[in-house]
Amino acid sequence: MSDPLPTPITDLDWSIVPSPCFVVDTRLLERNARILGRVRAEAGCKVLLALKGFAMWSAFGVFKPHLDGCTASGPIEAQLAREEFGKEVHTYAPAFSEVDLAETLTFSDHIVFNTPGQLARHLPAMRAARQKTGAKQVEIGLRVNPGYAEVEVDLYNPCASGSRLGSLREVIGKELPAGVDGLHFHALCEQGADVFARVLAVVEDRFGDWFPQIRWLNCGGGHWITKPDYDVELLIATIRDLKRRHPHLTIYLEPGEAAAVDTGVLVTTVVDLHRNGPLPLALLDVSVTCHMPDVLEMPYRPTIHGAGEAGATPHTYRLGGPTCLAGDVIGDWSFSAPLAIGDRLIFADMSHYTMVKTTMFNGVKHPSLALWDGKALNVVRRFGYQDYRNRLS
Ligand SMILES: Cc1ncc(COP(=O)(O)O)c(C=O)c1O
Repeated sequence: MSDPLPTPITDLDWSIVPSPCFVVDTRLLERNARILGRVRAEAGCKVLLALKGFAMWSAFGVFKPHLDGCTASGPIEAQLAREEFGKEVHTYAPAFSEVDLAETLTFSDHIVFNTPGQLARHLPAMRAARQKTGAKQVEIGLRVNPGYAEVEVDLYNPCASGSRLGSLREVIGKELPAGVDGLHFHALCEQGADVFARVLAVVEDRFGDWFPQIRWLNCGGGHWITKPDYDVELLIATIRDLKRRHPHLTIYLEPGEAAAVDTGVLVTTVVDLHRNGPLPLALLDVSVTCHMPDVLEMPYRPTIHGAGEAGATPHTYRLGGPTCLAGDVIGDWSFSAPLAIGDRLIFADMSHYTMVKTTMFNGVKHPSLALWDGKALNVVRRFGYQDYRNRLS
């Protein structure tokens, strides 16, 4: 997740929003979609939405005019992409079982394998699918690992030593394995076009001798294209140069975070106030482990509208969730006035890598999902007992 940017939803009366609730502003999604669409048009590449980062399908209509399709991580995301987005569907998984592959094939235009072993194992099924009368041509890709990235946190570094993601050149060998139509690499995380240019140079150095034999190159996600200081011109120029060197290649980008960064909030309510030590505690109706797991995993610190760093203003609280996990603590923030039960707290930048990761641990109330367009609040989903029950038997 990003260093949170302030989310500029300033025209919504929070008291009309059910709590808890993820509210996504379609105007902000559109802003991101247009930037991605501009890259697509000016660089002459294709841009896919990575569903792993943002999959609120009721908002797909905002992206459809600007993007070429979706990228999926397995059969279920591929099905969602096919049914709800409906343009190109590309699926990569670190490993496909036979069952997963058969399902994925039904919904995908491109399937990317992680290793030459996976490719060899599934090539007969891929070829059989191609021969089926009327079956569409499913493109076959191989994910390569450039062995070079500039990601500092190993949890998010696909090129960390011994990584299982993609295959190193020395593992694949001299020849491009039979059946490969395109190559895929993903080595960025929340990074700029300058880093992309350096990673691409390594990819070309290590795998460029195969480029004449392939039709497309997928440059993965992690491009922080919609961030205000991102150098969009450099990205466009880098892709144009790449295409000048290899005019036969179709170039794909598959950002997730860039599509949804800074487009939505998590609306929460103070349910209780408590104190067992030096800091007053505020218990909220959201859980860090269930609803914003990246705060624990990344870790990162979200922004709360109107709140400051601990101690910055007179009333500092430790904010925590409603589960039994002792570490279900979001962090310490300060407020200019004492908190009261029933107060709304609005967490910024909560659209990406949140809804897609949520759990119902402890049976905690699952945040509703809503879209806001500046005029009407559309609560597209509320969750209850049946949603919890249906996942468990
Ligand atoms: C293969 C692949 N493609 C695309 C993405 C999307 O990355 P981001 O959301 O950082 O743009 C990821 C993220 O992990 C990925 O693993």
